[in-house]
Amino acid sequence: MHFDLEATDGHARAGTLTTAHSTIQTPVFMPVGTVGSVKSLDAHDMTDILDAKIILGNTYHLYLRPGDEVVHTMGGLHGFTQYDRSFLTDSGGFQAFSLSDISKADKDGITFKSHIDGSTHYFTPEKVLDIQGNLGSDIMMILDDLVALPATKERIALSIERTTQWAKRSILYHRANQAQGKAQEQNIFAIIQGGTDPEFRRISATQLCEMDFDGFAIGGLSVGEPNQAMYDTVELTTPLMPTHKPRYLMGVGTPEDLVENVKRGVDMFDCVMPTRNARNGTLFTSFGKLNIKAARFQTDELPIDPACDCFTCKRYSRSYLSHLYRARELTFFRLASLHNLHYYLGLMKQMRQAILVGKFEGFYREFYAKRA
Ligand code: GUN
Ligand code: ZN
Repeated sequence: MHFDLEATDGHARAGTLTTAHSTIQTPVFMPVGTVGSVKSLDAHDMTDILDAKIILGNTYHLYLRPGDEVVHTMGGLHGFTQYDRSFLTDSGGFQAFSLSDISKADKDGITFKSHIDGSTHYFTPEKVLDIQGNLGSDIMMILDDLVALPATKERIALSIERTTQWAKRSILYHRANQAQGKAQEQNIFAIIQGGTDPEFRRISATQLCEMDFDGFAIGGLSVGEPNQAMYDTVELTTPLMPTHKPRYLMGVGTPEDLVENVKRGVDMFDCVMPTRNARNGTLFTSFGKLNIKAARFQTDELPIDPACDCFTCKRYSRSYLSHLYRARELTFFRLASLHNLHYYLGLMKQMRQAILVGKFEGFYREFYAKRA
């Protein structure tokens, strides 16, 4: 993997990330394809219609179903899903913590119960890399220890200590695999934790960024803290991260969150928001959110956003989409998801362009002016 930092504007960065499967221009938004599909869409939609260069998959879900061995047998995620560009896979730490009825961390890993059949499983730092090896992802995330906030200082201290220990085990295991000719095309990212406490964040970032990872993520945010606390935490963390490696803010966020965090030096994002909101009728536009449920759209001839050139807006009216939504037609999910993802990917492109020409401040002001 190569990461070339092409331009900076204030703290905002534009770069190019090259994996074995695609060239990714940053800042980038990664659509979420939890179980190996971006909900309601397929590989053709992602490649030919949206031109997404990287999507996210989940170790937790794919391990439980269909099983990483099945995916491996079918040619890894690329062969199985027929999406031949890059995959980043999350490690399962966060999903075991947020989806499982019961999850418990000890010094070696996390025990959790499947949300599908209640069976018990154990993830260790090495095990989640083996699973991600079978999945064949381009970027693997390490196992991290999360805490529900608010938490005691002791519990947060334990979380960052464990995350550092697990990171050491992960990088050793991965580099040893590579020395034996395995996982050659796979990259590995560590995840900084520490809640919204500046001191814990500093410790976690400093300890992890000393290690030889291919990139670094900021985790443990967008879990219910106020927006400003997230922005402040990112602002103090990015200067502690290496300049020449990609920086990924996990599970974020709204369009405003993307703009605020690109401004603070983040290169990569993922979030279910564009696809989840699409399915419940909330559509993103250059002038803010539009709720297709509103009665006035039933006879509205305009597209979702007259300024949008997506697959859906080039063809269909608000009236037709309003009808599909009310009739609970499955076609609505696809058309709305295509629009929302096009909006998110387009927003990232606009920010990248602005950074490349040194006009991020102007972009930032205009972004908010249009939504006022
Ligand atoms: N997704 C969103 N936040 C996180 C996090 O802190 N850790 C992991 N592993 N995944 C996440
Ligand atoms: Zn559109």
